[in-house]
Amino acid sequence: MTIQILPTLTELSHLTAELIVQRATASIAAHGTFTLALSGGSTPRLLYHLLATDYRDSIAWEQVHIYWSDERCVPPNSDDSCYKLAKDLLLDHVPIPSEQIYRMEGEADPTETAQRYESVLQARVGVEPQLDLILLGMGGDGHTASLFPNTTALNAQTRWVVANHVEKVPPWRLTMTFRTLNNARTVVILAAGADKLVRYHEAQLPASMLPVARVQPTHGELIWMLAETTE
Ligand code: 6PG
Repeated sequence: MTIQILPTLTELSHLTAELIVQRATASIAAHGTFTLALSGGSTPRLLYHLLATDYRDSIAWEQVHIYWSDERCVPPNSDDSCYKLAKDLLLDHVPIPSEQIYRMEGEADPTETAQRYESVLQARVGVEPQLDLILLGMGGDGHTASLFPNTTALNAQTRWVVANHVEKVPPWRLTMTFRTLNNARTVVILAAGADKLVRYHEAQLPASMLPVARVQPTHGELIWMLAETTE
């Protein structure tokens, strides 16, 4: 496990963009593609903007395949949509072929969509999908993706993607399971602010019950990218 703690989210976003450039270049050199799963929330907003601007020409976007670690069950044009966040800040500004962007259909039936997305992952990446890099955030309650405390998705053992009912609004979510997260080559957890630093330290405790503590890549690398402030 690697930990980076920087003073500001701005510095952290640049360092994370550089990391993604480096892993994309290595993945494309090694096997011709870079499979990247994005997350929602506010923390990655600057990162997505930087990938579409300062670092745009450093990635061979034509070889990049985009997935999501989770999605809210809302239409794709909703301001709550993780897809819309990435589309507005990144995907509309880089030359990724549209057929290489695999959106979770938040507007459809959650259970059916989760099953469909799992089939897409297995068809496109492999029956035991190993993504090159999964970008995650962490909520104030220690959730990651849409793996919230005390929800059924935490217990998924064989599934790769599930629907999950949560106490937050909107209540239905789609999420990769720990099995998928922990099968990745690289997992990056991006978090900023004093409260998130406290939660990070709690997650390192042996008996931590925080969902994010269960992100432990089996063969891959876990990189915590932390900022002391959200500046
Ligand atoms: C989502 C994300 C979620 C997010 C955390 C942190 O769907 O919102 O996937 O897991 O990463 O809630 O969100 P912030 O970056 O807004 O603190």
